[in-house]
Amino acid sequence: MRNILVTNALPYANGPIHMGHLLGYIQADIWVRAMRAMGHNVTYVCADDAHGTAIMLRAEANGITPEQQIAQVQKEHQRDFQGFAIEFDHYDSTHSATNSARANEIYLKNREAGHIAVRPVTQLFDPEKSMFLSDRFIKGTCPKCKTEDQYGDACESCGTTYNAIELLNPRSTLSGATPVEKSSDHYFFKLPDFSEYLQKWTRDQGRLPVSIANKLDEWFDAGLTDWDISRDAPYFGFEIPDAPNKYFYVWVDAPIGYMSSFENYIKTKRPDLSFDDYWKKDSQNEVYHFIGKDIVYFHALFWPAMLEGANYRTPTGLFVNGFLTVNGQKMSKSRGTFIKAETYLAHLNPEHLRYYFASKLSDKVEDSDLNLEDFVQKVNSDLVGKVVNIASRCAKFINKDFDNTLSANCAEPELVQSFIDAGESIIHAYESREFSAAIREIMALADKANQYIDEKKPWALAKQAGQEQQVHEVCSVGINLFRQLAVYLAPVLPMLAEQVQLFLQLERFNFASRQNILTNHAIAQFQPLMQRVDKAKVETMVDESKDSLAAVEAPKVVKKKEKAAVKATPVATTSEDSVIGIEDFLKVDLRVAKVVAAATVEGSDKLLQLTLDAGEAEPRNVFSGIRSQYAPEDLTGKLVVLVANLAPRKMRFGVSNGMVLAAGNADGIFIISPDSGAKPGDKVS
Ligand code: 2FM
Ligand code: ZN
Repeated sequence: MRNILVTNALPYANGPIHMGHLLGYIQADIWVRAMRAMGHNVTYVCADDAHGTAIMLRAEANGITPEQQIAQVQKEHQRDFQGFAIEFDHYDSTHSATNSARANEIYLKNREAGHIAVRPVTQLFDPEKSMFLSDRFIKGTCPKCKTEDQYGDACESCGTTYNAIELLNPRSTLSGATPVEKSSDHYFFKLPDFSEYLQKWTRDQGRLPVSIANKLDEWFDAGLTDWDISRDAPYFGFEIPDAPNKYFYVWVDAPIGYMSSFENYIKTKRPDLSFDDYWKKDSQNEVYHFIGKDIVYFHALFWPAMLEGANYRTPTGLFVNGFLTVNGQKMSKSRGTFIKAETYLAHLNPEHLRYYFASKLSDKVEDSDLNLEDFVQKVNSDLVGKVVNIASRCAKFINKDFDNTLSANCAEPELVQSFIDAGESIIHAYESREFSAAIREIMALADKANQYIDEKKPWALAKQAGQEQQVHEVCSVGINLFRQLAVYLAPVLPMLAEQVQLFLQLERFNFASRQNILTNHAIAQFQPLMQRVDKAKVETMVDESKDSLAAVEAPKVVKKKEKAAVKATPVATTSEDSVIGIEDFLKVDLRVAKVVAAATVEGSDKLLQLTLDAGEAEPRNVFSGIRSQYAPEDLTGKLVVLVANLAPRKMRFGVSNGMVLAAGNADGIFIISPDSGAKPGDKVS
């Protein structure tokens, strides 16, 4: 039996839990349940990440104290986790006395070992709010391309990164005041002291996904730099020992929250456990952190370095999940796909989402898509159509005709045994977090069970005289097969498993319990186990998400400060993926062109063939998919915008030499046309 401590990334106490969060929490919860079902001793803790400027300002905006703010949000978070059957042994807050003490201890040990430096840093300061401004609270004009209204770390227009001090006409987004430069002492954690240690650590067997370790190598090659771990008052956090008015940056005490949550668990609920058994340097117990790929650098660099510097053990492994897209795109408030846990729970069954996520997750750091149509289809077909169906097809005969008791013998020992044997590989898939593989195997078994029942047709046998025993045996086999499936699905569908356990009157439901075949066994009255997903409810949930999200936190972007500490590009985030620099945009040569002639294209009901004057020696031939909206005669003489340097495209009807810009929506396609006065060949920018 292994002793394992599992954590999830601690959610910030300033916003609600949403689908994107749930992917990682559901993944961890399934793993914890599966490891327990294998007989391991697993402790699973989490906490709210309660500190930082954002939480302080959110509280101020809400007219409450930060303490009230975090207490309220924590209640909501715990309610949502419970709703999705994410069952932590203990849920704490990083704003606890235990966490403060542990953070001080870790800091002081690092300081004693010489890993802390102090030096002045000049930053922008809001004279009205009397506070230093982090980059996201400063806006101004880009020093390079002069675009206005840019944040303090990077220009969204030209992509340049800079220091907020370099912005032209800077202003505080908090008060509107013009910030002034001010210097103050900052405390630094000397990350380069751990360069060699971390390079080895990140390559240790099983510590990190290899793709992440490769990415980290780029950072090591670029060289690590000191990490700024202090923030000046006012700041909602813990004051740094011997440094009045200086506070630990939230990312210092956040991961320490993993330790303190576990410590508080021991103090309040499990005095039989020992903190040292899990955290002392040579501990043989295992510690795993489930995290999103955007916070790898905190967990794979700063965190192990702080622990090593304070002479604690480091995590056994980091399990890293990708981002969630909904319907193939980044979650969006306007499309109603930024769905809060609370909104989902108001309309849909939480286990359906657990199942859908499980069917998508592997041990790879890949993004997952929640496609809502596929979700409805998969849940209805797999869980309702295949799994639950087996029980409802067989149970009614056992209940009605056989005194709620399964047959005294197993009529298909080999079939049932093959289901038991399949458990080996399913369990292995769970252990290695290959959940999608586990689900595939379980569904193949469900198909096999349904095939068996289809062949035997107990409903037909029941109508024939003298076939009672066969009906009894077939249905008893069916129930045994169903029991195997329910045991295998239990980590994913714990609520269903509980109902099945009651229905089958079984004392144990762990993986080993499946070995004993149920004969002459009394079961309870069958109750419907699961309803189909109603598509209309999915639509209502999406509609409701369209206007209920004002308070949702912004998607994460990698902050420049953390980038600086590792000097190289961190793992990409979805928000960064969609941004291009001006240099990319300038590669596109946009020109005004005049439609000289337009014609339909034989054999295509979508295309029109356009002859364009783009101010060049020769007219251009372009095929454009606008026939549904425009007749050729509407276009002749019209000015359009041409992408002039698009590679020529060979089509069935000829070569298309460029592209005409048009907007599109549900109502149709609309050509973008320059005002009169523009001339063919004019550059568009
Ligand atoms: O990125 C986040 O949402 C952080 N609140 C995660 C913290 S994880 C741990 F280090 F506390
Ligand atoms: Zn710029």
